[in-house]
Amino acid sequence: MKEKQKDFPLHSFYGDIHSTYDRVNRIFTFGRDRSWRRTAASELLKSKPDRVLDLCTGTGDFVLELARQSSRQGSEPGLTGFDFSSEMLQEASRKQEEMLRQKQQPEISFVEGDAGDMPFEDGHFDSMGITFGIRNLVYENSNATKHLSEMKRVLRPGGQLVILESCKPDSQLWRGFNNFFLRFILPYLGGLISGNLKAYQYLANSSKNYYTIEDMGKILDVAGFKMIRSRSLVMGSVMLLILEKR
Ligand SMILES: C[S@@+](CC[C@H](N)C(=O)[O-])C[C@H]1O[C@@H](n2cnc3c(N)ncnc32)[C@H](O)[C@@H]1O
Repeated sequence: MKEKQKDFPLHSFYGDIHSTYDRVNRIFTFGRDRSWRRTAASELLKSKPDRVLDLCTGTGDFVLELARQSSRQGSEPGLTGFDFSSEMLQEASRKQEEMLRQKQQPEISFVEGDAGDMPFEDGHFDSMGITFGIRNLVYENSNATKHLSEMKRVLRPGGQLVILESCKPDSQLWRGFNNFFLRFILPYLGGLISGNLKAYQYLANSSKNYYTIEDMGKILDVAGFKMIRSRSLVMGSVMLLILEKR
């Protein structure tokens, strides 16, 4: 696992881009990010968990999708969205209120804090989801080991971990195209829309240099999570992993 001496200032970065984060996501994925989260949410709910943590919830898209799907299924798991950016969490709460106005009842608690020191008891959650957040926790992050051990601590033994994340594609051709997009398009267009070029340079760079499914599986295996199944989406540029705490 790559760790760096001086970490990128992720906290202030998300504080700066919170208001444009969703829009940039929609543009760069052609709106596909929603359907990836839908797939991940339906995978997570298959095990009928009672308590679910959406780690690095950001603007809450994943936990809100879990609320939508579970209410359609007539189940009511306790849902918690956790993130260290108060600005991102404010966006998430705003969206939750919008759902309430539309007479939907998302029962979600949003909690602010650092993934390296979570205010939850050991084994508190049956399932944990993390969509486009694990990269922040492990890639060139000097707290990577702490983040992974906290993830393991708050999940019950046998509990499920669902990860959706960017991935390094297998095909050389697609990898070349992907790298071109990440190097020459994402940072500048993302920077233009959000007003923060550095933030999108980091995002593009961490996506470009990120792991394959195999690399990620090895890191999580060492951290105490067993891979149950994996899928690659968009010709291998996005991974969906289903793991279990040993
Ligand atoms: C790329 S966003 C992903 C947001 C959301 N899960 C999604 O699917 O769009 C990553 C989120 O991780 C949060 N984050 C990064 N490092 C964190 C840490 N150490 N503790 C808590 N949250 C963290 C950031 O504030 C940001 O909201």
